[in-house]
Amino acid sequence: MSVVAVENHGGIAVVRVDNPPVNALSHALRSGLIEAAEKIDADDSIRAAVLICAGRTFIAGADIREFNAAPKEPHLPDTINRIEASSKPWVAAIHGTALGGGLEVALGCHYRVAVSTARAGLPEVNLGLIPGAGGTIRLPRAANPEFALEMITSGKPAGAGAAHDAGLIDAIVPEGQDLETFALSFAADASAKPLPEPLSTRQPATAPTAGWWEQAIGNIEKKAKGQLSPVTAARIVRNGFEKPFAEALADERSAFLELKDGDQSKAMRHAFFAEREMGKVPFVEGAQTRDIHRVAVIGGGTMGAGIAAAALLNGCAVDMIEREEGPAEAGYHRVMGILDSSLKRGLISADKREALENAFTATAGYAKTADADLVIEAVFEDMDVKKAVFAKLDEVTRPECILATNTSYLDINEIAKSVGNPARVVGLHFFSPAHIMKLVEVIRTGSVSPETYGTAFAFAKRLKKNPVYSGVCDGFIGNRILYEYRKVCDFMLEDGCLPQQIDASMRAFGMAMGPFAMGDMAGLDIGWAARKRRAATRDPNERYSRIADRICELGRFGQKTGAGWYDYSGEARGGTPDPLIEKIILEESEKNGIVRREFTSREIQDTVVSTMAAEGQKILEEGIALRASDIDMVLILGYGFPRWRGGPMFMTSNAG
Ligand code: 3HC
Ligand code: NAI
Repeated sequence: MSVVAVENHGGIAVVRVDNPPVNALSHALRSGLIEAAEKIDADDSIRAAVLICAGRTFIAGADIREFNAAPKEPHLPDTINRIEASSKPWVAAIHGTALGGGLEVALGCHYRVAVSTARAGLPEVNLGLIPGAGGTIRLPRAANPEFALEMITSGKPAGAGAAHDAGLIDAIVPEGQDLETFALSFAADASAKPLPEPLSTRQPATAPTAGWWEQAIGNIEKKAKGQLSPVTAARIVRNGFEKPFAEALADERSAFLELKDGDQSKAMRHAFFAEREMGKVPFVEGAQTRDIHRVAVIGGGTMGAGIAAAALLNGCAVDMIEREEGPAEAGYHRVMGILDSSLKRGLISADKREALENAFTATAGYAKTADADLVIEAVFEDMDVKKAVFAKLDEVTRPECILATNTSYLDINEIAKSVGNPARVVGLHFFSPAHIMKLVEVIRTGSVSPETYGTAFAFAKRLKKNPVYSGVCDGFIGNRILYEYRKVCDFMLEDGCLPQQIDASMRAFGMAMGPFAMGDMAGLDIGWAARKRRAATRDPNERYSRIADRICELGRFGQKTGAGWYDYSGEARGGTPDPLIEKIILEESEKNGIVRREFTSREIQDTVVSTMAAEGQKILEEGIALRASDIDMVLILGYGFPRWRGGPMFMTSNAG
């Protein structure tokens, strides 16, 4: 079947693209568009053309799957130049998302109209790329330099309204009107006017102030933290202002091709597909999932409040259950605090804020759980406390109610034994802050039914999270790897490093934070408790560093106690290195007979990546994770691993 069809509607050609699922610009589509342009120019009965797409979206970009092969003619820039050179006006009729090459095609058209819900953007930087088919040159000529530079270097799409205000979209389809009908009438009007000057030959607006480019590009470089694509994008946008079109297009293309063949783009493309793959779980295929309307959250602390807010913000009624009135009230205020900050940031309206408050209760006692479709437990990380909570839930909840635990490390198979029907027990491991972090590990116990698991997985998606499959083990995928990461960093302290050196190396690697600063932020007591729990079963011959324990023994649990790996008593936001910590580290090296040595940043980074990958490999072999790429996504989405490096599994499988 052809992916492009041309129909003549009373002198206006409808060029209909139908290339599911997202109308990506495959070789067949590029060829089809050129053929359509030839046909329309040659047909005297046609006065104008409407480019419109079938399915859920306008063209969503180049076909990313073709990027691993050599480019095949016709290339996209030539396809777009051909449309732009057409002797009759083309109107792009946009619904869904016009992204990347899709927006570039629309910019090659003489006009753009869109439904009000449409979005347009150039997200190539998120794939480690820059627009490669004239986007960096045509967009600044359709819109102003600030809008164009922001869109291209951030990769964030704009809504139809903002795109219209910026000059990128010529008209928005009025409420109640059909896109195709509107576009046909727009094209008929356009055919009566002279062809507008193509964007490629227009003069771009000048930069707002002298020195504007230098400052804007400087800011982008600072934010990029080692990622090449935003910096290259900024440079190429500026180049497009300074050179004639053909030359600028050739420069853009060569920068695009260089990035496409580089490691960063390969890693980001891996992450793009991995992110979609992680949502697929063979275990639940065909299982009947249920809708969740009412959620009960047990425990109103840090996690309970974040989970409650996430569920409220995504349309669930939520009842929070606490031990006593005092903590219930504290939990209530925590949730209200999150709603208030959503209001302040413009994410919800005042009316919505009020409606969400009305959909929420926080009480002591379990009465409200009787109506719940799903209960999520987020009480203290203690097996006995959790078992008691689940035994109580077994008495009070409906038999079909799903019972989930947010435990970080504990054995959910053991927790499930407290319930008569363990098929309804599952793990939903959120990350902190739970209303913001995208990752949720959905833990499959030995006894959970596919219906329970599938419903929990779908619920996480409904909260706009990225759920990932994990089996039961100590720490599941993420915290188990984190444990090894921390452990090897502690060994490097004994062997010759200091916390600030390791933190700086991992930040230079692209991590959002270094491991020690992260530990101080999360609280060192959690890891300490886990180490104490494991002490009884630890192999006495295994290497063990006492440094972290000694720090906890001093009551230094991180930021919340004013000191941890760093000292937080001063003004510096990230704390300052503490001579006491250095003293402890040197004492431990000496006690273990270790001659301290120098480490390079590269050695620190390689050690961390190979340690993570080795643990990931074990996790994979044990069947805890479904795929190596899921492990990469856990680290990218949950632990600040740089997306442009693709994750430890990707890095080590591509090494050498
Ligand atoms: N190429 C190939 N496959 C693509 C694709 C693309 N550009 N975009 C999406 N897909 C695939 C996905 O992998 C997925 O496949 P699967 O069903 O086998 O897992 C399927 O299409 C559906 O995608 P989503 O699950 O993401 O569907 P959504 O409806 O949630 O989202 C979307 C749709 C917003 C279009 C989202 O898919 C998206 O953001 N796509 C990428 C857009 C993009 O980055 N475009 C720029 C490409 S680079 C470019 O154009 C270079 C140019 O400048 C030369
Ligand atoms: P927290 O200490 O902030 O909150 C726990 C809350 O549970 C307290 O408000 C307490 O009053 C309440 N509680 C205790 N026993 C209860 C009972 N029997 N019935 C009702 N409420 C009870 O702890 P936090 O950080 O929210 O952690 C909760 C759970 O989430 C733990 O299992 C933890 O391991 C897990 N977790 C924590 C993360 C974090 O970063 N803090 C991340 C992911 C999971």
